[in-house]
This record gives sequence, C-alpha cells and structure tokens, in this order.
Amino acid sequence: MADARTTPAPPAITHRSDYAPPSWLVPEVALDFALDPAATRVKARLAVTRNGAHDTPLRLDGAGQVPLAVSVDGATVNDWRIEGEQLVIPLTGNAHVVETEVEIAPDRNTQLMGLYASGGNLCTQCEAEGFRRITWFPDRPDVLATYRVRMSADKVRFPVLLANGDPVAAGDDDDGTHWAEWHDPWPKPSYLFALVAGDLAVNRDTFTTRSGREVALGIWVRAGDVPKTDHALTALKLSMAWDERVYGREYDLDVFNIVAVDDFNFGAMENKGLNIFNSRYILADPDTATDYDYDAIAAVVAHEYFHNWSGNRITCRDWFQLSLKEGFTVYRDQGFSADQGSAAVKRIEDVRGLRAAQFPEDAGPLAHPVRPESYIEISNFYTATIYNKGAELIRMMATMLGPQRFRAATDLYFERFDGTAATCEDFVACMEEAGGIDLSQFRLWYSQAGTPRVSATLAHEPGSGRATLNLAQKVPETPGQSDKQPQVLPLRVRLFGGETGQPLGEEQLVILSDASASVTFETVTERPVVSLNRGFSAPVIVESDRSAEDLAFLARHDDDAFARYEAMQQLMLDTLIAATIEGEADTRAVVAAVADTLDDPALDRAFVAEAVLLPSENFIGDQLSVVDPEAIFRAREGLRRTLGRTLEPQWRAACDIALRRPYAYTPEDKGIRRLRNVALGYVSASGTPDAAALAWAQFEAADNMTDRQGALTTLASGHAPERDAALDVFYNRYADNPLVLDKWFQTQALSSRDDTPVLVAELAQHPDFTLANPNRARALVGAFAVNQRAFHAAGGAGYRWLTDQLLALDRLNPQTSARLLPPLGRWRRFDPIRAEAMRAELERIVATAGISKDLFEQASKSLK
Ligand code: PHE
Ligand code: ZN
Repeated sequence: MADARTTPAPPAITHRSDYAPPSWLVPEVALDFALDPAATRVKARLAVTRNGAHDTPLRLDGAGQVPLAVSVDGATVNDWRIEGEQLVIPLTGNAHVVETEVEIAPDRNTQLMGLYASGGNLCTQCEAEGFRRITWFPDRPDVLATYRVRMSADKVRFPVLLANGDPVAAGDDDDGTHWAEWHDPWPKPSYLFALVAGDLAVNRDTFTTRSGREVALGIWVRAGDVPKTDHALTALKLSMAWDERVYGREYDLDVFNIVAVDDFNFGAMENKGLNIFNSRYILADPDTATDYDYDAIAAVVAHEYFHNWSGNRITCRDWFQLSLKEGFTVYRDQGFSADQGSAAVKRIEDVRGLRAAQFPEDAGPLAHPVRPESYIEISNFYTATIYNKGAELIRMMATMLGPQRFRAATDLYFERFDGTAATCEDFVACMEEAGGIDLSQFRLWYSQAGTPRVSATLAHEPGSGRATLNLAQKVPETPGQSDKQPQVLPLRVRLFGGETGQPLGEEQLVILSDASASVTFETVTERPVVSLNRGFSAPVIVESDRSAEDLAFLARHDDDAFARYEAMQQLMLDTLIAATIEGEADTRAVVAAVADTLDDPALDRAFVAEAVLLPSENFIGDQLSVVDPEAIFRAREGLRRTLGRTLEPQWRAACDIALRRPYAYTPEDKGIRRLRNVALGYVSASGTPDAAALAWAQFEAADNMTDRQGALTTLASGHAPERDAALDVFYNRYADNPLVLDKWFQTQALSSRDDTPVLVAELAQHPDFTLANPNRARALVGAFAVNQRAFHAAGGAGYRWLTDQLLALDRLNPQTSARLLPPLGRWRRFDPIRAEAMRAELERIVATAGISKDLFEQASKSLK
C-alpha cells in the first residue's frame, strides 16, 4: 500500500523508437461549443475508421475536463472506461460515429493550454498537447481530420467568433447569444485547431495570390490597438508574396486571420487560417516599439505564415520530428528577413542568438539532438536546438546543394509529402534525391547532440608557394551520448594576403567529414591569412591559431561581412578572456580595429553597431571552464571604459547624427539608431561627467522607443539622479501599456548595478508584477536569470529567489516555469560554492511535492 510519504512514481518517458501508427483514424470532426468563461460545453462528433487489421479499442486523450456523455452511432453507451488520461471505447465495426460531451472552465485555465481566457476574450492554444484539454480526441499529429466548428456565445461579450478555415454561416438566437459556423477543408492534426471569441476590432486588407485568388486578411486586436497593427499586416503581405516567389508556395484558403492576445506561452501559433499571437509580436508603433521589436514582428509573422506549408500542409508524424517543421520554418523566416534589409546583419544577429541560447544548451545538462530520442514533457522540447540548430542543418544542406538544387529539393518535398505527417528523414531523403548527393553521414547532425569543435592551423611554405590548412574536428560528449562520430561540416574558406589584403584565389567550400583533413592551396606567394567558416556556414566552434594581428587584419579586409564581424569578435573575446584570467590585457589591437570600423564610411551603420559590440558576459563565461562572474564583469567594463575614453569623439559623433533626424523606419535610419545607442553606452562607460546628461537628453528628445529605451538602458545601469527620473517618467507614460511595462521591468532586471538582485526582488512586489502573465514573468524573472553577474552574486540569494519564483509559477503555468529553469543548470561551470548553492536549489525543486512534470524534467536532468 502506498502511503502519503511514498515518493510518487517518476513521470513516464516517451521514446521515439516506440512510434506506432494510430490504430484508429478520424477523417472528420464536428465540434459544437457553447462558450462561457466559467463553464463551456463542448460536443464532439468524430467519424472514426479502423486503421489496419487489429481489435484494439478506440483510445481518446483527455485532460482536466468533466466527461458528461458518450455515444456511438447515435446511441448512448456505457461500456467505456477511463484509463489514466484516456477514454477507452470498445468498437466492433470498422467505421463509427463517436460523440462525446464535456465541460471545461476557460477562466480557471492558468496554464494557457487548451481553451483559456485572456483580457476578457476566449482563445485556444493546442500545440503540442492542448487539444486534449478541450475534448476527447486522439491528440497526436499523425491523425488528420477536417473540422467543422460551431460556436455560440453571449453576443455582447463575445461579438466576434473565429475558427480555422472559412466562415460558413452565422446567426442570432433569441436568448442574447449568437453563433457562427466555420469549416476547414484541409485535413489537419488537432494541434492546429483554434477558435477565438471576443470583443475585437479588425484591421483588414486583401492579398491576391499568383493564381488570382483573393484572400481576405484580418488582424484582430483590442479596439484601441488597431493603429498598431499596420506593420504586422504589411509583413504578412510581404511574407505571402515572398513564399510564392522564393519557394513557389501559394496560400490555400479564402481567409487568413491573426488574433493578438496578451497572455501567451510562446511567441505565436500557426493554427490553420487562424494564427494566434502573443501581442508583443503584433503591436507596434514608433512610440511603443523598438526597431528590434519591429524586426521581430515581421520575422514572427513570416514564420507563422510560412508554417502554412512547412508545418500545416505537411505536418510532423510525431513530436520527435518537431524540427521538421520548426527548423525548416526558422530557416525560411531567416531568409525572408535577410531579404528585407541587410543580409549580413541578419546573419550576425542569428549567429549571436544561436551562441547565446543554443550553444549553452548543447554544452549543458539539457543537451539533446535536433531529433531527440525521448522526452518526459514535449513542451520542454521547443528549444533553441530544435528551432535554431535545426535551421542551421537546413542551411548546411542548402549550402551544399546550391540554390537551384535546394529549390528542386524543397519542391520535391512539398509535392511528395503534401497532406501527410512526415519525418525529418523524409526531408533529408528529398534533399538527397533532388540534390544528387549522399547525405548518409550528414544525418548524424540529427542524432548527435553537442556543438562540434574545429581546430584549424595554416602552414605556408614561401618557397613552393604552397599553403596547407590542417583541420580537425571533435564532437563533444553530451548526456547519454559518449562516443561521437565525425560529422559533415561544410566550411566556406578563403585566403587573404597578409601584406596587401588581397584575396588569394576564390572562396572554396571545404567539406570536412573525417576527424581530420588537410586542404592545400597552390601559388600562394604572400603570407596568407585564413578566413574560415565564412557566413557561419557550419554551426561549430572554431579554434584557430590566428594572431591578434591576423584577426585585426581580417576585421579590416575580409570581403565577407560576417567573417569580418567574426574576426572582430574573436579578437575581442581573446582580449577579454586574457583580461578575465590575468586581470589585464593588451587592448591596442581591439581599440585600433574598433576605430577603423567606426571610421569606415563604406560600412552600413547597423553592421558597425554589431561589429563594435563586445561579446556578452554570458558568452565570455561560456568559454571558461570556471566562470568568475565578477572577473568577467570587471574585464568587460574595463575594455568598455578604454574604448569609451579612447574613441570618445567618434562615439559622440555617432550619438549626434541621430539626434538631428526625425524618426523613420528605414534600414538606414535603423542602422543609425542602433549605432547611436551602442555609442551612448560607450560614452557612459567612459565615465565622462556629462554621460548621464547626454543619456537624459536623448531620453527626453526621443521621438521613438528605440532611442528612449536605449537611453533608459544606459541610465538604468548607473547611479545618476537621471536614472530614477527616467524610470519614473517612463513608467507613468506607459502605465497602461503592458508591453512597454515589460520593458520597464526588463531593463531594471538587466542593469549592471551592484544592487540589482535587491531591486529585482523589490520589483517582484510591485503592483504591476504578476507571474500569471508569461511576458511579465519573463521580463523580470527570465531577464534577471541571464544577468550573469547579478544572478550569480556571492551568497546565492539570486538562486533562491529564482527558485521561489519558479515554484510559484509552476503552480500556475508549468510550461513557462520550466522554460525559465536552465540558468540554474549551468552549475557545473561555477566554483564549488556557487555550484553547491545552485545544486541545492535544483534539489529543492525536485523534492517539492506536486510539481509539474515540465519542471521536474528540467530540474532532474539539470542535476545529472
Ligand atoms: N509552433 C509555434 C511556432 O513556432 C510555437 C508554439 C509552440 C506556440 C507551442 C505555442 C505552443 O511557431
Ligand atoms: Zn514555428
């Protein structure tokens, strides 16, 4: 007999190798919702067919609903049973109609999965396993059904009723309710189901597809927010045209709707014909959104739209194949964004993001392959590895195939798997077939976790004119995977002459597939410098023996913008690591390279802004076997001060240009603003007495959020009286705008002041702070946990505070809580005192009774 003190059984593990096709299919579904925030009735009518010869009963998934009735072929049955979270119904024939009715309570749904309330409206989120919280269903992505949806609701509270597909009929009842019926002709998995009921206003437009179909577009938001939806609507039309032009993909319904909600666990969701977005990825105007926000909105709108083909028309067979849709769709949205502005700057941003999120994941206890082997909770696998490393895999295949063959391969994929639930293997097989290359070894990228390390040395014999590039690779051990095989690494390489700066020969694509290899270059008469992994052609860590002079040289002469940035970053990183370990370093090469970059009029300002930015404290920490957060901070601040002082006139000049231009959202002006805010940071780092006054002047004069928040960020890290003044003005001005208040919280959580841990704990008591809203929780808790110096401040208060927040949040919203845990899992990289304190908090989480399997999985894996 179990007693109350018995440890509960560990949560079940799902294995990729256990996949079996569904035993029952559901070609058609009809749903009927009597919507009410407190008690919604859901009737489901499923046409089910036996899939193959077997005698297993029908098993439907369900969670958290009250079952009311079950009938088969029109007659109430009683021989059903509940097993765990499944409804089991014995069926005798090969085709039946199964009807169920349940009751659910959207206004008590704090997990934001299934049907929930946000800002007085009702909406759904079903990926990955939320549909089972709405009705009984085989809630797995390989069961594709057409959906007919009827909704009825109070007409005053919920005047707008939306679902997937096309509207079919609508009407009023005489009890104050109204109803609408929608039909989606495209078979889809349950995770793409969506409905919205609410008091919403719409920004409408149309898009005519290349075959002449007119699509009615609508973005639905709170009435006052309609003026903030123009940018998203423009991005949507650009995405639709781009997918036709670049991938030959046309939209396939008469209607495409987007709804923005304030409470959302992720960025947005690609439900067929009815995308639901976190409002931060829709709402923008110059007064409230930064240039960064504008770019992110366009990217997420494009991402969700592109899923209509890479995700919806072709979906995933099972959740282990998640990167099939996510990696490919990220790759597609990156291509879209690259085409809207500077491709080089976009690539730099994407690589910075990969290094900030995916590399640490791959190097830590939560490392997993792009196609994982097992999970406890699938929500924990919406990771940078599945998304961003997954996108890098597609990019490598595109690089190896070249543009024409890559397009032929995606055409083949879309054609062959349209209407099906496919696998990563299916995608690679199309690349192989249409690309005419053998990808057998390349497939290791899907199964082996860990970031490959490449070492590179270049030897030159001036007499023979021969240069030899020696390359070696190693894929590190990761949890559950020790002996790794060498992977296929496509490395774009070019040599430059160390004296003249001229390229020596053409760029080459070197495919490193063995543990080590040499590449020879002939007729190299000058001393060569190697530019390696140009464009970040492979997502690897390169260790080369290039000197500071060679890196500075590449930062000046390389004709690949990414490689130029990369050389500069490596130079800065080498300097910062030396300064961290030794307490001081020779900074002359960095200063000279930054000065040259600032003074080069041929360079795009956005590129300059990226290139002169120092690597983050976290990234420096990731390079060290033992992270010393204080030493890293001091080294980085020291270099910032040196750069700020030495180049003060240049930084001031960069601040000035922008001041004299009224706001415009153009690539050129975005670049000027970006550089201006970086420059303001350097002026402030210089310690010059008027730094705070300068930031305050920018804050006050700003006619846009980019400049206002940039100034606020600089002030927030200091102690000048302007700091509190700016925070107050900012707060009062935006007190009723939740997205901007998130920035107010986040800016303070990222501050480099010594007292940040204390201020953050106080902010958690602020009346505007709530864990119930994921954006707000991330803005304070999530930002604090990546503020390396503050989070790891001696004494461990940061660890305890984070853990308290995670446990409180877990009771409301397990998914969001679990996603904020990974910073605690970095314990192995810290000194014994910090490591022990971090471990102790992970132990405390695992020992807490009743935690979700989401949080349990992250914490228990982080302890191993
Ligand atoms: N599929 C969504 C996307 O990447 C992400 C998401 C996952 C949203 C799970 C909500 C829940 O576009
Ligand atoms: Zn996606």
